[in-house]
Amino acid sequence: MLKLTYVSHSAFILNDGENTLVIDPFFTGNPTATMSADEVKPDWIILTHAHGDHLGDGLSLAKQHGSTVIAVNELANYVASNGCSAHNMHIGGAYNFPFGRVKFTIAHHGSSTHDGQYMGEPAGVIITMGGRTIYHTGDTGLFLDMKLIGELNRIDVMLAPIGGNFTMDIDDAVQATKFVNPDIVMPIHYNTFPVIQADPNEFKAKIECIGKKCKVMNYGETIVFD
Ligand code: NI
Ligand code: MN
Repeated sequence: MLKLTYVSHSAFILNDGENTLVIDPFFTGNPTATMSADEVKPDWIILTHAHGDHLGDGLSLAKQHGSTVIAVNELANYVASNGCSAHNMHIGGAYNFPFGRVKFTIAHHGSSTHDGQYMGEPAGVIITMGGRTIYHTGDTGLFLDMKLIGELNRIDVMLAPIGGNFTMDIDDAVQATKFVNPDIVMPIHYNTFPVIQADPNEFKAKIECIGKKCKVMNYGETIVFD
């Protein structure tokens, strides 16, 4: 069983009945979030990169709840230097955690703190938990290696940015979905800020045109996979 809750932007809460994992916990200052950071008690936090709209409340949540933050080496060291528990990984590496398996993938983007400290490479992440495999691409442009990710992994749910400007737009995300070939794709990283406006229903229509399934999640919505 896997419960998947969409906070908004790139933030998700995963729960398998025992473990709560939050990806890119951007609650405070997130204009589209309908939940606050107080409503989540993560055991684990996965960060795709250090930008403020992804690191979000990561440090304060980790301190408050003793969560372990999983991130690439440079960002994990930064998290640890702020007094939080961290598990250092890097791109191409996978590890079996008590809740499931995490593998970091490439993402074409940047990763620094708000004051410009280098935080290593940005990443995407493939998480197997509660019997499902989720590919959160992180912030990225389109890249051909997504084809390899799709060939080597049976992806149940792909979480793909569609907002453009900083990441893939709708058409690039449609191409990415063709490459990865997931069961379902869900649009993320759109309509949070003025420069990333995109119509998720246009994305859904284009995905259905290529014979794939798309689910547009509402802010705060939860889906349960049995
Ligand atoms: Ni970013
Ligand atoms: Mn972002």
